Amino acid sequence: MHDQPAVVLNDGQSMPQFGLGVFQTPPEITADIVRKAVDVGYRAVDTAAAYRNEEGVGEALAGHDDIFVTTKLWNADHGFDEALGAFEESARKLRRHTLDLYLIHWPRPRLNRYADSWKALIRLKSEGRSRSIGVSNFNRDHLDRIIGETGVTPAVNQIELHPRFQQRALRAFHDQHGIKTESWSPLGRGSLLGDPTIAGIAAKHSKTPAQVVIRWHLEGGLIVIPKTVKLERLRENIGALGFRLDDDDMRRIDALDSPDGRIGPDPATATF
Ligand SMILES: NC(=O)c1ccc[n+]([C@@H]2O[C@H](COP(=O)([O-])OP(=O)(O)OC[C@H]3O[C@@H](n4cnc5c(N)ncnc54)[C@H](OP(=O)(O)O)[C@@H]3O)[C@@H](O)[C@H]2O)c1
Repeated sequence: MHDQPAVVLNDGQSMPQFGLGVFQTPPEITADIVRKAVDVGYRAVDTAAAYRNEEGVGEALAGHDDIFVTTKLWNADHGFDEALGAFEESARKLRRHTLDLYLIHWPRPRLNRYADSWKALIRLKSEGRSRSIGVSNFNRDHLDRIIGETGVTPAVNQIELHPRFQQRALRAFHDQHGIKTESWSPLGRGSLLGDPTIAGIAAKHSKTPAQVVIRWHLEGGLIVIPKTVKLERLRENIGALGFRLDDDDMRRIDALDSPDGRIGPDPATATF
């Protein structure tokens, strides 16, 4: 079992820096894969109402209140009352009174209701229903707006981030405001793993490309939630906790950043 690194959020709560993502994990196998993850040492799970597998996460984690659970408010549920209702539904499916982290999944700026949703999350935190609250896919404008309107800074912004899309400007803004950056699609959905630079660094350390990429996130202070449905890869990915990259490795991976590296939707223009 590896030591589990943690980050301290701006509200004083501690969050594991490494966890399991379950986007696209089929609902019928989610409980099984989450159970296996806990057995091999995972201490955090990232789900969302939109993934339709909160029930599986809840089933696997019943009696495991020590495992950090994140879920997210879906786009159809923006608005103050709607967000409070959606939280109750997620908490019920997750079988928890108190969640560890509740995020707004996307700002959906054209709908113009994300600030009301944020006010609902502030209420949930003040009532002790979510220990921490944050956002996902927010850019600087969206963050400025909710902080300006409420005076409450999100603990976390979960954004697309991997060696080909490193989000340096937004990360600097997060650092200035005490917001922790969480990387989604940290492996670039697997597309990065054949990169020759990554492969070379992996060979040098006798590690796998996925372990090198996960390690790069950890050493950058990022929270990282790689997804897999395979037991062997659950073990492989958590193995990233057990070694170090050197400065030269980090510089070479940093150099893979590309302005065209985004693989998911751009929050500024996403239409869903
Ligand atoms: N907030 C958001 O809008 C948002 C958006 C996307 C994702 N997320 C979160 O971030 C998590 C991770 O992102 P993601 O699922 O998009 O992508 P990812 O973790 O970058 O990559 C997952 C893909 O890589 C494969 N993989 C995993 N470990 C591997 C290994 N060791 N070797 C080779 N291939 C490996 C997986 O296949 P197998 O499953 O077949 O192993 C899967 O196809 C999600 O599960 C979700 O929790 C959030």
